[in-house]
Amino acid sequence: MYSSPPAGMATHPDTRPASRIDELIPEERAVYATLKPERLPQHVAIIMDGNGRWAGRRSLKRFLGHQQGAKAVQCVTETAACIGLPWLTLYALSLENNLRRPRAEVSFLMRLLKTYLDDNIARMMKNNIRLRCIGRIHDLPPDVQAKMRDAEEATLRNTGTTLTLALNYGARSELVDAFRRLAEEVRSKRLNPERITEEDIHRHLYTAHMPDPDLLIRTSGELRVSNFLLWQIAYTEIFVTERFWPDFRGIHLLEAIAAFQRRERRYGAIGEDGGEVEENPERIKIAVS
Ligand code: FPP
Repeated sequence: MYSSPPAGMATHPDTRPASRIDELIPEERAVYATLKPERLPQHVAIIMDGNGRWAGRRSLKRFLGHQQGAKAVQCVTETAACIGLPWLTLYALSLENNLRRPRAEVSFLMRLLKTYLDDNIARMMKNNIRLRCIGRIHDLPPDVQAKMRDAEEATLRNTGTTLTLALNYGARSELVDAFRRLAEEVRSKRLNPERITEEDIHRHLYTAHMPDPDLLIRTSGELRVSNFLLWQIAYTEIFVTERFWPDFRGIHLLEAIAAFQRRERRYGAIGEDGGEVEENPERIKIAVS
């Protein structure tokens, strides 16, 4: 049973891109066949974690883990496109990664991103994928910004899955950016501070154009949200897998969606097996021991 989101929570029309189920590999098709198409999530967000450990377990250098991680990005995105998932958001580089990792690793990730974009534009066009990015992109190297801009422009008119890469992204800094813009509206008297609503905050987030994630997947077993989409995941279902990101494929996305469909989404309401409601609570004596 799915409750509906509370009134006032930003909702977006459920416009689903066309699916191409016949292009799934047989193993994926078998899992897809167990899903309820009317309950597919609109938006899946993923914390891609475990590239380093994947490499470490194989006595390989970390950069090889990232390289295999890029392959996983390609595979998972194309499965998402095949099932007509409207929104897929991937945490590709956090603000903290950018600040705290060795420069050599960050610059490798930047080069990998550029190569990924160069090598994948044609595949994105074929798969009707629209690319977007969120985060403090203006603080990335100018050549990376230019490459992202070109890729966004090239795929702008695609109507299938929107793949959003969170780059140099931090949820707290996203909120800081949103509050600065709200403060500006208040200062210029376009907004009455007494009347600020959740919707006002939502419209200043980097994600204002998309629905909140229905499902957040984290790979490699850590039970943290790591400063990712903190406002947006208020009612998101969380799925954690032990699998390292470089081993994650479309079939695992479909398995996570299957687990999501077994959940009951309540948005603060009472669940199906939540006990009976007393019609007259006045009759109940309250004892505190
Ligand atoms: C986490 O693994 C992953 C990252 C910090 C970067 C994510 C990058 C990719 C998946 C590859 C490139 C992406 C694109 C979009 C082409 P980790 O290094 O934190 O792993 P660890 O926790 O095992 O050390």
